[in-house]
Amino acid sequence: MLIGNLAPHAKDTTNRVEEAYQGFQEGKCKSCHPAIWREWENSMHAKAWVDEIYQEVANQIKDREAKCDQCHAPQPILITGIGEMPKLRNKQREAGVSCLVCHLDAEGAMHGPPASAETYFHANVTNPIYTAPTTLCSTCHGQPTVPEHDQVSSFLESKFAEGDKSCATCHMPVVNRLQSTASYESIKGRKHTWRGSRSVAQLRRAAALQLEIAPEKVNVMLQSKTGHILPGGTLRTIILEVKLLSPKGTQRQKEQISISDKKQNRLLPNEERTYIFDTLSSAIGDTVTVRLMYQLTPNTPESEWILMAEKIHIVR
Ligand code: HEC
Ligand code: HEC
Ligand code: HEC
Ligand code: HEC
Ligand code: HEC
Repeated sequence: MLIGNLAPHAKDTTNRVEEAYQGFQEGKCKSCHPAIWREWENSMHAKAWVDEIYQEVANQIKDREAKCDQCHAPQPILITGIGEMPKLRNKQREAGVSCLVCHLDAEGAMHGPPASAETYFHANVTNPIYTAPTTLCSTCHGQPTVPEHDQVSSFLESKFAEGDKSCATCHMPVVNRLQSTASYESIKGRKHTWRGSRSVAQLRRAAALQLEIAPEKVNVMLQSKTGHILPGGTLRTIILEVKLLSPKGTQRQKEQISISDKKQNRLLPNEERTYIFDTLSSAIGDTVTVRLMYQLTPNTPESEWILMAEKIHIVR
């Protein structure tokens, strides 16, 4: 009798999970959540599998299915466990970190912050982990066995983690919009854009520069404004460049310093660092230009480095 009772229920649940996958594929999530869909669609989460940089690096790993793919095309993490190592999905891999990965539970329900409306398509479950989602993010961005992809531990030790601040403070800005086409009213939500190193605006907020110019040297003060280790990824390099130009604009000297995981000199959150360039001797009328630039991968040519900050000083 017990088995007779359990079996249909188990089937029901599997069906509801299956229906969510099907609905995702057929564009149902998109049609009821058009605004959130558009935000997600352009994010790196949507591209976590198709991303060419990812595929190129992963193709060099022998057992990528065991070591890499599980976070770039994961099963729903509410099902495999928040904080647990995600498991590789067998379908819809091209959807990367899809809506279902962050929201779908084993019963086919959608977990999230408090909702204002209901739908026949899925049950809504209010779950407090979404309000300050650092723990949710840490499932992929803070796995203890994958330190290359860890933004969470440096964040947790910083002032950026105080109070109710979380990864969402900087990567999911607050927005008022209809959560779905069936919602009764616009309520406070958070943008599903996760802008990171591909966003010039985000990079411009990452660090600040200050200069002190003396006749025989230039002191550059660099302060990180980023909520975690900077640069956040192990593939990235930040270049600090100092140039000395004559009054006519001819380059007299150029120095570059790299900051990266490879150099083991990444900046901690809020860290202030002074670089002294004591081989630069400027004369009156010279221009000193200091730039902070972002290199996405070691192969990114200098012409494609992104300007993060710049200070120009004319020597008087
Ligand atoms: C624990 C989950 C997890 C595992 C396992 C994992 N990744 Fe990632 N990967 C991430 C996260 C999160 C990011 C984004 C944050 C970052 O770059 O640190 C990322 C980003 C990347 C990027 C940067 C992509 C870009 O757009 O520049 C590459 C390349 C990459 N991963 C390769 C790999 C390879 C190769 C493996 C296996 C050796 C692997 N990953 C295993 C979670 C994971
Ligand atoms: C028939 C319309 C409809 C479809 C289809 C639909 N949703 Fe929803 N969804 C809603 C409504 C209505 C709400 C509640 C919105 C509100 O509170 O204003 C909602 C809320 C949500 C929430 C928040 C839940 C909470 O409690 O905070 C998530 C997450 C969600 N949907 C994801 C999805 C995903 C993923 C899909 C595709 C598998 C999907 N929805 C398909 C109508 C729909
Ligand atoms: C299921 C795994 C997973 C979860 C959960 C997850 N991420 Fe990611 N995230 C990734 C992967 C994988 C990438 C790398 C995509 C790529 O570049 O190929 C990524 C990339 C990013 C990026 C980089 C975007 C860029 O432009 O480089 C940001 C920012 C980000 N995630 C923030 C978050 C935040 C905030 C949360 C929590 C709300 C979160 N992620 C939850 C797997 C995850
Ligand atoms: C990387 C994890 C992640 C992915 C992927 C993701 N969400 Fe969310 N979603 C969140 C978090 C975290 C919140 C809570 C934001 C807040 O506090 O308002 C949220 C909130 C929501 C809400 C409530 C409205 C809001 O903005 O708070 C809806 C509806 C929703 N998501 C639907 C979707 C849909 C549809 C997709 C796919 C197009 C999707 N989510 C993809 C993490 C994710
Ligand atoms: C105070 C704002 C702030 C907070 C809080 C914050 N970030 Fe970031 N994040 C940034 C900035 C600025 C960048 C761009 C510079 C860089 O690449 O590190 C960035 C970049 C990233 C990247 C892209 C790294 C890469 O190599 O492409 C990921 C992934 C990321 N953050 C994840 C997270 C996660 C996960 C959390 C929570 C533990 C978090 N961030 C908290 C500001 C923040």
